[in-house]
Amino acid sequence: MKDEFALNTVAKITPDQQKEIFSVLQEFIELEHLYESAAELVKTQLHVYDSEFGVKFQRNPIHSIESRIKSPQSMMGKLQKKGLELSAKSAQENLMDIAGIRVVCYYIDDIYTIAELLGMQEEYKIVKIKDYIKNPKPSGYRSLHVILMVPVYLSTKKKEVPVEIQIRTIAMDFWASLEHQLHYKTNSVVSESLKKELQDCAEIIADTDLRMQDIYQQIYDLD
Ligand code: GTP
Ligand code: MG
Repeated sequence: MKDEFALNTVAKITPDQQKEIFSVLQEFIELEHLYESAAELVKTQLHVYDSEFGVKFQRNPIHSIESRIKSPQSMMGKLQKKGLELSAKSAQENLMDIAGIRVVCYYIDDIYTIAELLGMQEEYKIVKIKDYIKNPKPSGYRSLHVILMVPVYLSTKKKEVPVEIQIRTIAMDFWASLEHQLHYKTNSVVSESLKKELQDCAEIIADTDLRMQDIYQQIYDLD
C-alpha cells in the first residue's frame, strides 16, 4: 500500500523533476562516499600510531575509535538553522563536522600526543583546534576538538575533506555520554541545580583524570 502510494507520487512528477531528484540523491551519495573515505583514512592512520606505540613502548594510547557521517537530514537541519542554502554543495562548503571521529584515550597526555602527531603529518592540515579541556564548556564538557583537512584521492581528482576529531579520555567520554543521554531524555530542559550537579561531576571526573595521570607518571618514572 505504502509502495503503491510512493509509485503514484513518483508517476505524478514530471521527467525533469525526476531527473532533478536523482541528481540531488547522487550528490548526497557521492558526498557520503567522500567523507566516509576521509574518515577511513584518518582512522587507519590513528590505528598505525596506536599499534606503533604498542610495539615501541608496550602501551597503547588509544582505548577506542568511533566514527560517524552526519545524516542528510541532520546536515539540512544545521544549514537551515544557520540560514544557509540547503544543498549538498552548501553542506560541503559550510559544515566542518560531516565526518566525525571520536578518539578515546587512556590519559590526558595521550590526547595531546595524538593531536600533535596528526598535526605533524605532512598531508594533513589542522584548520581549527578547540581545547575544551583547558577551557571546559559551561556544561562541564571536556574534549579536544580538531578539524583536520584530509586529502582524498579519487580516480580523477584530489579532494580536501574536513574531518572533525574529538579526542578525550575514557573519563571525559563517560561524562559526555551520560550527559548527552540525559539531555536527550529530558529534551534539554534541565533545572539549574541539576546543571550544577552535572558540572560538579565533570570536575570530580577531571580531577580523577589528573590523579590517574599522576599515578601513571610515578609508576613510569620508576622504570
Ligand atoms: P555544533 O553545531 O554542535 O557542531 O557546535 P560547534 O560547531 O560549536 O562545535 P563544538 O566544538 O561545540 O562541538 C560540538 C560537538 O561537541 C557536539 O556535536 C557534541 O558531540 C560535543 N559537545 C559539545 N558540547 C557538549 C556538551 O555540553 N555535552 C556533550 N555531551 N557533548 C558536547
Ligand atoms: Mg558539530
